[in-house]
Amino acid sequence: MNIFITGASSGIGESLAYHYAQKGATVGLVARREDRLKAVEDKVKELGGNAISFILDVANQDDVQNAANAFLEQTGRIDTVIANAGVGGSDKLSSGDASTINNILSINILGVTNTVIPFIPSMKEQKSGQICIISSIAGTRGLIGHGGYSGSKAAVRVLGDSWDYSLSRHNISTTVVFPGWIATEMTAGHSFKMLFLMDSETASRKIAKAIQKGKRKYILPWQWNIIVPIFRFLPRWLIKLVSV
Ligand SMILES: NC(=O)c1ccc[n+]([C@@H]2O[C@H](COP(=O)([O-])OP(=O)(O)OC[C@H]3O[C@@H](n4cnc5c(N)ncnc54)[C@H](OP(=O)(O)O)[C@@H]3O)[C@@H](O)[C@H]2O)c1
Repeated sequence: MNIFITGASSGIGESLAYHYAQKGATVGLVARREDRLKAVEDKVKELGGNAISFILDVANQDDVQNAANAFLEQTGRIDTVIANAGVGGSDKLSSGDASTINNILSINILGVTNTVIPFIPSMKEQKSGQICIISSIAGTRGLIGHGGYSGSKAAVRVLGDSWDYSLSRHNISTTVVFPGWIATEMTAGHSFKMLFLMDSETASRKIAKAIQKGKRKYILPWQWNIIVPIFRFLPRWLIKLVSV
């Protein structure tokens, strides 16, 4: 198996890399922090996998395209591409400066298109492939103060939904994953209680299974399947009331 994973230097992406390494896969590892990615590369090899690392920013289209080309050249084919890299953060709406929100939108949305699209011609030629996009339950409704994050995760949800129409006829599956709270660096600073918090090893195992089954949409932990529809239809006045 040849798997390309962005955001592999920590959290969900790191755990996914180890999951596939244990199965003897060749894993393309992408992130910006070189030291962290080197440590992941070493562990992937220890676990029985092969690793090819790419230190880059997923928002840079040329760099990701070159990495995808190099990965394909070395492996000869692609089985699964997982667009997982992402950042959180507030909108800084009152700052008068759009750079914070633009950075979130660019990494979380263009990072996905930059990652997935270079592999599509090879997948079509092979007549097989699995695409996975990591969205979030935050992408199901605009979160207060985090419109950029919510908006980016909603955008990739819709991208995945649309791409599936075009790609499924070529035997290419598109799985959009909606994690709730997962214990990673992204959530490490949260002081509030995170409902149904799941560790990243368990999350990665479940995500890999959903990809393997070719699920179009996968929410985890399962409890969010019940909460999300309720949350989507809560009246705005009630959300405003509990948020002050
Ligand atoms: N944890 C949660 O509760 C949760 C819930 C819903 C969705 N998610 C989503 O899950 C994904 C993984 O997040 P995580 O929770 O595992 O957090 P994390 O531990 O902070 O991992 C984020 C990963 O993305 C990489 N990354 C960030 N910006 C990048 C960029 N511009 N270019 C390349 N790599 C970049 C980071 O590596 P470098 O910093 O080394 O580049 C890191 O490897 C994200 O898309 C996140 O939005 C997480």
